[in-house]
Amino acid sequence: MPSISEELLLPSTPGKFKDKSHAMHRQFYRCFASTSTMFLWALFLVALTASYLSFQSFVDSGNKYFSAARGGVHWEKQVKTSARVHRRNGFSVLVTGAAGFVGSHVSLSLKKRGDGVVGLDNFNNYYDPALKKARKKLLNSQNIFIVEGDVNDARMIARLFEIVPFTHVMHLAAQAGVRYAIENPHSYVHSNIAGLVTLLEACKNADPQPAIVWASSSSVYGLNEKAPFSESDRTDQPASLYAATKKAGEEITHTYNHIYGLSITGLRFFTVYGPWGRPDMAYFSFTRNILQGKPITIYRGKNRVDLARDFTYIDDIVKGCVASLDTAKKSTGSGGKKRAAAQYRIYNLGNTSPVTVPMMVGILERHLQVKAKKNAITMPGNGDVPFTHANISLARRELGYRPTTDLQTGLKKFVKWYLSYYGYNHGKSSS
Ligand SMILES: NC(=O)c1ccc[n+]([C@@H]2O[C@H](COP(=O)([O-])OP(=O)(O)OC[C@H]3O[C@@H](n4cnc5c(N)ncnc54)[C@H](O)[C@@H]3O)[C@@H](O)[C@H]2O)c1
Ligand SMILES: *[C@@H]1O[C@H](CO)[C@@H](O)[C@H](O)[C@H]1NC(C)=O
Repeated sequence: MPSISEELLLPSTPGKFKDKSHAMHRQFYRCFASTSTMFLWALFLVALTASYLSFQSFVDSGNKYFSAARGGVHWEKQVKTSARVHRRNGFSVLVTGAAGFVGSHVSLSLKKRGDGVVGLDNFNNYYDPALKKARKKLLNSQNIFIVEGDVNDARMIARLFEIVPFTHVMHLAAQAGVRYAIENPHSYVHSNIAGLVTLLEACKNADPQPAIVWASSSSVYGLNEKAPFSESDRTDQPASLYAATKKAGEEITHTYNHIYGLSITGLRFFTVYGPWGRPDMAYFSFTRNILQGKPITIYRGKNRVDLARDFTYIDDIVKGCVASLDTAKKSTGSGGKKRAAAQYRIYNLGNTSPVTVPMMVGILERHLQVKAKKNAITMPGNGDVPFTHANISLARRELGYRPTTDLQTGLKKFVKWYLSYYGYNHGKSSS
């Protein structure tokens, strides 16, 4: 894998030998006591410098193992190469969250049709970073470079815009997951609010300004009971901090559209699933537990009503993302000033056919050919909503969005990937 952590190239922590330092000092002076040893020291230093310099040129000459070192000539070259467009009127797209589930799929799809793609991801450990590294490896094999960094790093993002005049930004980096907000609320504010503003500031200042497509969430519909969920329905009753930060994102992006003329499209994804998916999501952790013979916990709503989700297959979501980029109008500002009214859109991207969680488990049992040990409990009030159901007529009309994969078919593909990636026995021995 073309990444060795930068720490490996740095000296170990100073202070580690603190108690020995006095003795070492004395020894040091004794060594310098005679001129002949001093000459030897000088010779040694010259040799050291020379070998360091040749090592540096070795690094710059394109050895892949040192590609992670940010800001160098080689790094810059990788960014440029990755952003290169290979089709007429193609885009150069900055994809944030590119090592994530949706981001990796969108990046591959754009690259495949000839767009330039530069990824950005901080590889945080909200879920197993090994999976993010494996996605990165897959993207690298298709000549997509992922910069390791945080969307809150304004200087680094400004640097990327200096190197590449991105036509589009596909912003998928976020703290995802509904329940984790109870444990770590600030990670949501950091990535979904502060990070979003930092990214929008960079887009505002860029010349030319890119068009932005970003991931909101179906969770903004919160406690709504009217179904299906339409874009014009109220979204002011979030049931989780995650939903609240996504709703805040919709308001914040509206402001940047209004004041600075940024072209903005927000996509409300409905429970996305598929190969290379997220281990924190139910279909994924259920698969793991079923294979390991462990019980799974199935939440039920009030009055023992089954929870239901409008599960949407990743390839359908990718098509919606790409169509959003294709139909995005140019931003109308420059140098931080707006010139004319710019495009602001919000779309549901769902499947339009909710499936209950027990039915989803039934499909998994059939594909895995293993019976699940089920514990049904009443849903604790930790942010989950009882059901989701998308009205996608707006996206159908304006994006040509037409989901084609039902849960049965999509989960079959997921299970196939899961078994090829982890095998049947993954984690069976541990815990
Ligand atoms: N998967 C779903 O069902 C679903 C549903 C609704 C909305 N969404 C949204 O879609 C987007 C993609 O979701 P996903 O399922 O691929 O999640 P994911 O967690 O797999 O991907 C997000 C990626 O962003 C990165 N990231 C997080 N914070 C970052 C930061 N501050 N700086 C740089 N990188 C950062 C993470 O390391 C991760 O790789 C997210 O915005 C999510 O909220 C997803
Ligand atoms: C779906 O959304 C459209 C707006 O795009 C609206 O006209 C229509 O009435 C909605 N359908 C339902 C069943 O709510």
